[in-house]
Amino acid sequence: MSQSSAGSIESVLQEGRKFAPRAEFTARANISSEAEYEKMWNRAKDDPAGFWGELAENLTWFKKYDSVLSGNMPDTKWFNGGKINASVQCLDRHLTSWRKNKAAIIWEGEPGDTRVLRYQDLYREVCQFANVLKSLGVKTGDRVTLYMPMIPELAIAMLACARIGATHSIIFGGFSADAIADRNNDAKAKVVVTADGGWRRGKVVSLKAAVDESMERSPSVEKVVVVRRTGSDVTMTPDRDFWWHDLMQDADTDCDPVELDSEHPLFILYTSGSTGKPKGVLHTTAGYMLGTMMTSKWVFDLKDDDTYWCTADIGWVTGHSYIVYGPLANGATTMMYEGAPNWPDEGRFWNLVEKYKVNIFYTAPTAIRAFIKWGDQWPGKYDLSSLRLLGSVGEPINPEAWMWYHRVIGQERCPIVDTWWQTETGAIMISPLPGITAAKPGSCTKPLPGVVPDIVRKDGTSVGANEGGLLVMKQPWPSMLRTLYGDHERFVSTYFGDIEGCYFAGDGARKDSDGYYWVMGRVDDVLNVAGHRLSTMEIESALVSHPNVAEAAVVGFPHDLKGEGICCFVSLKSGDGNDELIKELTAHVRKQIGAVATPDVIRFATALPKTRSGKIMRRLLRDVAAGRVSTQDTTTLEDLTVLEKLRQDED
Ligand code: WT7
Repeated sequence: MSQSSAGSIESVLQEGRKFAPRAEFTARANISSEAEYEKMWNRAKDDPAGFWGELAENLTWFKKYDSVLSGNMPDTKWFNGGKINASVQCLDRHLTSWRKNKAAIIWEGEPGDTRVLRYQDLYREVCQFANVLKSLGVKTGDRVTLYMPMIPELAIAMLACARIGATHSIIFGGFSADAIADRNNDAKAKVVVTADGGWRRGKVVSLKAAVDESMERSPSVEKVVVVRRTGSDVTMTPDRDFWWHDLMQDADTDCDPVELDSEHPLFILYTSGSTGKPKGVLHTTAGYMLGTMMTSKWVFDLKDDDTYWCTADIGWVTGHSYIVYGPLANGATTMMYEGAPNWPDEGRFWNLVEKYKVNIFYTAPTAIRAFIKWGDQWPGKYDLSSLRLLGSVGEPINPEAWMWYHRVIGQERCPIVDTWWQTETGAIMISPLPGITAAKPGSCTKPLPGVVPDIVRKDGTSVGANEGGLLVMKQPWPSMLRTLYGDHERFVSTYFGDIEGCYFAGDGARKDSDGYYWVMGRVDDVLNVAGHRLSTMEIESALVSHPNVAEAAVVGFPHDLKGEGICCFVSLKSGDGNDELIKELTAHVRKQIGAVATPDVIRFATALPKTRSGKIMRRLLRDVAAGRVSTQDTTTLEDLTVLEKLRQDED
């Protein structure tokens, strides 16, 4: 993707195929006619308060709100005056129906151990852990860090926080001790919940050890709760560290839910921005619950007899919204798997689909590309006939990967929902509705009801059909982020500072003549590596913190499996680089940020291309990293020989 100075973006992708859902699917779908969608979409656009107000009756309120929507973006409030609790939506209200004994969570660990928690069981454990948190001094409004493997205790801890109005901040297990400390400090977390470890490709990921290291720099943290998962050796610091099972043993199995304001902070989730430290995206209670509940129902077409599996890690927003809150608010059965897709072999996911008769399967393009590479023989070994709907999220899906997913996994029977959304949006925004939308491979298709996007130039004017531009939202939606934790100004300038009156998502996109959206990727210095947003700036800071490094520039390059790979250009303070130093720098970045940010390529350069004002010209380095001859404008480049030298270094 190339961006001109006017902010319009050239789009090169051409895709003409179209796939309509089969009549049998449409007949049973939660939204089953185009006319119904049009009516909902127009109603939501013209009368958002009326539209969302009616849907909010599907939530359980302690006290009804005074107004559905108040204020303008960025400072919009939803359901002001209402009193609500997220855990009640996910648990209590199902206990008075037949769902009491329905499976809420079906879990399988990587070693093959399994657990099924019925709604009643989940309720009991959530109440117990809520009481545990209270006994550790956690109060309504406090923050709790969760750094855990994909085990039921993670969902239990989330809902327990929600029950007492503590705000959870989940840190993905691939982050390092330093990243944990940064997030603990930013959020001023009082308690950390972790495990002795988690299983990944037959090995233990030592979560507790990372927490221990982070504690040296986490002064706000008073207590640590540790789930025994792997049985590996851990050091327990007296009076600070407690075993989950010890605390749970004595905990009461009832805990009244706290009656919270609609806008009470439900969770913080840190995500990458182009500059500065990670952004603590803050979501609140009522709007987020309504957004995730309704979109789960519309997009995943959830029915009571479905087994639904989202393969994301709960450490990312996908897991928050579409493993835990959205599905459970619908009383659905949600599956959770702890480990790697290729353990003990490359057939594991399909083995799980067959074993649990999964009906709805939601994964990421990076995973699909790995499946393709591993070969059709793996899914071919298993019975996938239970599947009725497939989903994709995290980055644009390449049309060829879409076709493979459709043919090999969906067996040309299942609609595919390519869902565009972000940590910030909380819930799916642009996506096919599986019963009605004719999908085009590579397009996330059309906005859901309540979502009013546009594609604009930098001056805010709308672009024409098939013209690339910036993807914005013109109307607020209930599950949108409310602020960046502790930095409201940054929230306003990051999302509302570019295009007057609009939320700017940071993505480039185009709309075709059928009104279908084609997202072309991010326009800022944020990489999308295996569906995870990583900031080039943070990786650069990590590199520069190494004593030998003078300067670093990090860019993405096309990567077969990960979508984007991480390429680092490093200039040293003195001497030449060598393989030893590459290893050392790689380890250094992993320690500073975590395994998620492991560089794919490190290249040493005597100088980096810069503008006359000293800004590193990353767009030129992107060409070098991709091995392309640059056709870009180099008139602002300070020293033209630098690029030539970088290219020669390749040989
Ligand atoms: C960015 C958000 C939403 C959960 C996972 C990532 C890209 C996401 C799609 C899609 C094209 C997509 C965008 C977006 N993205 N889904 N279906 N088609 N691009 O959450 O880390 O907040 O990243 O992921 O660039 O801005 P996130």
